[in-house]
Amino acid sequence: MTDVVADRGGDPTTKPKEFDKLDDLKGMVELDLKMELSDVDNYTKHSKLAEQMGLTELKVKLEEMAADESRHARELHRILKGM
Ligand SMILES: [Fe+2]
Repeated sequence: MTDVVADRGGDPTTKPKEFDKLDDLKGMVELDLKMELSDVDNYTKHSKLAEQMGLTELKVKLEEMAADESRHARELHRILKGM
């Protein structure tokens, strides 16, 4: 992903987003699920922007990332059902 940003004249950076530090396991898993779903939404929105810009490679990469996060969310949802 950084190569695409750099090729288009951008300056790739990584800055993890802030999140609450919880003490209970179920709360942690619920927060993780919420963050995974947020990531799916963000990657999907950005893939649509990439499509509008004609950046097929980036669009596909973002869709793959959204699919990965969606799978993670589904796994966490399954774990939460057992808690
Ligand atoms: Fe994930």
